[in-house]
Order: sequence, then C-alpha cells, then structure tokens
Amino acid sequence: MMRSLPWMALCWALSACTADAPDPAQIATGARVYEQHCAACHGAKLEGQPNWRARLPNGRLPAPPHDESGHTWHHSDELLFAITKHGMVPPYAPPGHESDMPGFGDRLTDEEIRAVLAFIASHWTSKQVRDARAEILRNARH
Ligand code: HEC
Repeated sequence: MMRSLPWMALCWALSACTADAPDPAQIATGARVYEQHCAACHGAKLEGQPNWRARLPNGRLPAPPHDESGHTWHHSDELLFAITKHGMVPPYAPPGHESDMPGFGDRLTDEEIRAVLAFIASHWTSKQVRDARAEILRNARH
C-alpha cells in the first residue's frame, strides 16, 4: 500500500506538466486579469463588441471577440503576447494604424500577460479550432 504512493505522486506530477495541460492557478490569475483589464472592451464572456467586423465612424476597429468566433486563435502565442504587451503598433500592425487596443506592458507583468492569454485560450475547446490552432502553431515555429 505505502509503496505505491510515490508512483501515484509521480504520475500526477507528469500529467500536470504535459505541455497542453492548462495550469489551474495560471488560468485563475488570467481570469482576474481579464476581468480587470480586458472585459470592458472584449466583453465579459469574450464576445467582443457588437458588429465588431464593421469600422467605427472614426475609422477604427471595434474590439473583436476572443472566443472561437473571433480570430484571436489564428495568431501564434508570440504574436498574441506582443500585441497585448505593446498594442497594435508596427510590426504587428501597418504603420500609422490607429487602434483602441492599448499596450499593457506598463501595467501587466509578462506572467500576467501569459496568464490572461492562457485564460483566453482555455475557451478554445472545439476539436475543429484546437486542430486548426495546433497546425498554426506548428507552422509558426518554422
Ligand atoms: C480600450 C479597449 C480595449 C481593451 C481594454 C483591451 N483591448 Fe484588445 N483590442 C481592442 C481593439 C479595439 C482591438 C482591435 C484593434 C485593431 O485591430 O486595431 C483589440 C485587439 C486585440 C487583440 C488582437 C486580436 C486579433 O485577432 O487580431 C488581442 C490579442 C487583444 N486585443 C488582447 C487584449 C487583452 C489580452 C486585453 C486585456 C489585457 C485587451 N486586449 C484589452 C480594444 C481593447
């Protein structure tokens, strides 16, 4: 009985460390960061602003959804990190692009940015989106 315990602990530790397994503590931090810093524009349920594909009268784009209906999941982790940290500025947007997406580098730590992106990614659960994203991430590494 006692001898099996270390093995159980090892299996648990290994399964918790696999690359795809979301870390619950990180997701919880990300949920807090999202509510405080992102929800006002991207929506409490990640639904984005109404009519998000149509430009506003001032020519800027509304905040897109971060759920599967948007295109956030089309981007590599590196690009999502960079946009969140620096905003929609070159090289992530064309020069002169006017955007309401703020950069959060002055307010959030890198860990908080990674946490909020992990929280967002935890909403991409359909097989279709997960498979497509795995393909995008594979290509982004080349
Ligand atoms: C003041 C409103 C506002 C807040 C707050 C805000 N965003 Fe945005 N965000 C936008 C807008 C507007 C866009 C589209 C900008 C564009 O294309 O010019 C955008 C775009 C993005 C994109 C690019 C999505 C894509 O598919 O191209 C990411 C990633 C993003 N936001 C993440 C975040 C995160 C994470 C937070 C919170 C830490 C956040 N945003 C907070 C307004 C906001």
